[in-house]
Amino acid sequence: MVLSESAEVMEQVAKSRFLRKSPFLEFCAAEGLPVITGYGVEDLRTVKLGHWERLGGPAAYCHLEGSQGFVGSLVAEIPPGKSFKPMRHLYEELILILEGRGATQFWCEKTNQTIVLEWQAGSLFSPPLNVKHQHFNGSATEPVRFVAPSNAPIIFNAFASADFIFNTPYEFTDRFAGQSDYFSSEVKEGEFEDTSINFISDVYAMPLTKYPRRGVDYSRLGITGSGNKAMVGHIMAIGSGTYRKPHYHGAGAQVIVLGGKGYTLMWPKDEPSGASKDNKFVKVDWRKGSLLVPPEGWYHSHFTTSAEPGLHLALRRGQRGVGKNYLPTVPEQEGGTVMDYEDEPREVRAIYQAELAKEGIPCRMPPVHYRK
Ligand SMILES: [Fe+2]
Repeated sequence: MVLSESAEVMEQVAKSRFLRKSPFLEFCAAEGLPVITGYGVEDLRTVKLGHWERLGGPAAYCHLEGSQGFVGSLVAEIPPGKSFKPMRHLYEELILILEGRGATQFWCEKTNQTIVLEWQAGSLFSPPLNVKHQHFNGSATEPVRFVAPSNAPIIFNAFASADFIFNTPYEFTDRFAGQSDYFSSEVKEGEFEDTSINFISDVYAMPLTKYPRRGVDYSRLGITGSGNKAMVGHIMAIGSGTYRKPHYHGAGAQVIVLGGKGYTLMWPKDEPSGASKDNKFVKVDWRKGSLLVPPEGWYHSHFTTSAEPGLHLALRRGQRGVGKNYLPTVPEQEGGTVMDYEDEPREVRAIYQAELAKEGIPCRMPPVHYRK
């Protein structure tokens, strides 16, 4: 039997196979869930949504360049006075409320317990894995909009079955068994990040710790919760007139801008000529409501150009020893993946000074002495 006419044809077939949509993106297409691509989203609060029947309301999925089939973000809006359909899913998801107020109900069938969590703009929580839950808008006049980063892409890319992912009755009671005080805001020591907390009522009120090795005026708090094993995150602040050191890591970190204004430069580590022939850097401008996702192995650095700090919430995979083991908190000089200011491309500082001048914001960066 002749399988193909020539090696050339086989090459073409192989190429088109590699260019096929992932199971996750095939799922989005089949469900009519709009997919947002690119390097960044200017404002999640106003981005256009379409109807997603499974959820029962307007939604879109941000699968940006840096998602790379691992982690992405659902954006959804609950109309005034409405609720979404009850849902359970075998992916870990965190929910940041961007606008509005309301409540989510959670069921544990094994213990016959139901609990309700009330939230408002700035709240962050995670429905425990595969727990049936339903979101309600608490206002008759204002919509609720939220962004929900999750590892749905990699779960779909592993199982490729919406029926399995949304309709499996198994309950992970080691994570949630209907405890009435489950969503307390008690801060505990975290296994995968600095802290474990099941409900952050207001992300803007969390105390951050300074880490000068990562940026001259950089502070952060690592967070995880709801027994998650795969998804973690951190809140970080980058002071006015300063920027975080360039660094790189794995795919899929969803960087949501909570406040301030600035931009992020991204460039591929192994292609010094840059992301495109004409531009060395991909530049993503950001302000409150923006989303950006650096691709795997791309240097990226966040620059604040407002009087107030750039405040970001990064939600991402927290698994250690899965894929390449990056060390994005350790300087390159010590074997890690953080570039010191002294090693950065010369254009970085010049671009920053020009951007600050446009905004009339003083530069607070110490002078840099380049190593090479
Ligand atoms: Fe990063």
